[in-house]
This record gives sequence, C-alpha cells and structure tokens, in this order.
Amino acid sequence: KPLFKGKHFITLEEWKKEEIDKLLEVSKELKRKFLNNEPTDYLTNKTAFLMFFEASTRTRNSMEAGIAHLGGHGTFLDVSTMQISHGESAKDTATILSSYGHGIACRYCNWGIGNKYIREMAVNSTVPIMNLQCDIYHPMQGLADLMTIQEVTKTTKKLKVSIIWAYAKSHKKPISVPLTQILLFPRYGIDVTLAYPKGYDLPDWAVEQARKNAEENGGSFKITHDMKEAFTNADVVIPKNWGSWVNNQSTAVIDDLLESYKGWKCTEDMMKLASPNVYYMHALPADRGNEVEDSVIDGKHSIVYQEAENRLHTAKAVMAMTMGNK
Ligand code: CP
Repeated sequence: KPLFKGKHFITLEEWKKEEIDKLLEVSKELKRKFLNNEPTDYLTNKTAFLMFFEASTRTRNSMEAGIAHLGGHGTFLDVSTMQISHGESAKDTATILSSYGHGIACRYCNWGIGNKYIREMAVNSTVPIMNLQCDIYHPMQGLADLMTIQEVTKTTKKLKVSIIWAYAKSHKKPISVPLTQILLFPRYGIDVTLAYPKGYDLPDWAVEQARKNAEENGGSFKITHDMKEAFTNADVVIPKNWGSWVNNQSTAVIDDLLESYKGWKCTEDMMKLASPNVYYMHALPADRGNEVEDSVIDGKHSIVYQEAENRLHTAKAVMAMTMGNK
C-alpha cells in the first residue's frame, strides 16, 4: 500500500515531520533515477487533473512533466474553460473529477478565497487534493526549498535562513511562500529570520505557529525590520520583495512602492554582509532589477535554478506517494 495513499496535500502543517522526511527521501530518490534515466512507473494508468485559476511556469510544468515521468497522465485545466466560469461549485467539480481519476491539483491564489475553495474540494473529493498554491500556503514550493537547502548544506540545525518579504494587507496579495517557509523551516532546527518593512506583518496566527514550531523542534524564529540585520551572517537568504507583486498595480502605486522600498532590494552590497558561502534562493519568478540585481541572481551564490529544478522531483514524490503505488 502506498505510504500516504489518499492523503491531501494542502499544507505541510498537516504532515508530520517523519512524513515530510519520507517525501524528501523519495524526492531525492526520484531525482537520482531521473538523472540516471531509470524507470519510475509509480503512476501507470493513473490520471490527475491540474486546475489553474492563475498563470504558472514551474508548478504547471513540474506537475505535467512529473506525472508523465511516473507513467501517468495529467490533464491541464484552465478553469476559464471549465463550467466553473459559469459558477459551477467546488463540490460538484471535485465530486465529478474525482470519479474520473486519481488526484486533483489546484492553484487558486485569490485572497480570502483560494484556500477555502481547495478545502471544499477536499471535503468532497474521493481522491487526494494537492494544493498548487493558494492564498495561504504553497507546500510544493516549501518542500522543494527544503530539499534544496538540505542538498547544499551539511545540516539544517542552527542554519541562519533569512526570509525577506514585503506583504501589505491593504494590497490583499497571497502570502503563501513566506508563510510556508516560516512554518516549515523551524521544524528542521533552522534559525529563521523574517525581515520586512514596518506595516507588512504576516498574520498573528502564522507568527505564533512559527514560534511554536521553532520551540518544539530546536529552531528559532525572529522578526526584524532591518534588512541588513537579516543579511548579516546569513547562510541562506530568500529575498522576494514588493517588486515581484507590483505587476497588477497601477503605475502610481508601483512608483510609490519602488521609491518607498528601494532599500529593500537584494544587492551585491547586501550579500557581502552574509556568510561568505551564503546561498541566494528565490521561488521565482523574480523581478530582476527591481528586487534583485542581475549579478546576484546570476552570481555564484545563487541556487535558484536548482531550487526550481527540485520542484519537479518533490511534485513527483507527492503524486507517487498520495495517488500512486510508491
Ligand atoms: N514558484 C512558482 O510557483 O512558480 P510558478 O508561479 O511559475 O508556478
């Protein structure tokens, strides 16, 4: 019997540490087999439906390619071409799709709606629901991030990982990437620093949970509004700032943000404050020039392509172990 057959993958908070360890172990095994051209037919004759409310490069293609590598079939569903666009409910959509296949994956980042929608699908689905990013969580990204950190560092214990993020409640933008990271990393003994300009607070419940996860697992969690403090002696920096979410804002708002937070950019000078062997990570897409200098993201400290590549292997592990026979 597959270890996690039928288990929903909505947030890593609902997965025990031993279960996450197993997912990571299988991700690494699948990566090795993929690179060695070894067969990994764990999803033969299995189908997954991949529903997207928003655009994606990494998530869509890691899922589609991944299910093919595992011998199954993934159906990409742009929800604007489904009856969801005419108001069909999450319940009806999940009930029907789950009668056609073996897994349903969904990206829905709409603020205040996405997670609720995915939860409603989970209640009504007879097959595992995989969260491909909602307004609150991005577990596929978190898993790939952790795998990448484990690959490049000897131990995660006492590693200083700084997550630099600007999120404004007033802009109602998803907080799924930093929130997933601050919850997950302290569970691995990591010393997490979250840095952001004043006023960009993450929700209280998330901060409290991150502190609890740290206390229970030997990690630590602290908040600073000083970007330099976050970079100082950091082993890993993950700066994904306001620059990446200005895309849908008006020109006036963008100008205002760029001016107000231009100090919150990942520059070579900032990187010099960190450990000499610091790693630069970013979930991507990055807003080159505005949030990070090209010389940093393309430089010797950057592991962003390894991080993106690992999305394939972690996605495969989740699918193989929840809907396949791994
Ligand atoms: N990091 C990430 O989820 O990328 P996409 O939006 O391209 O899927």
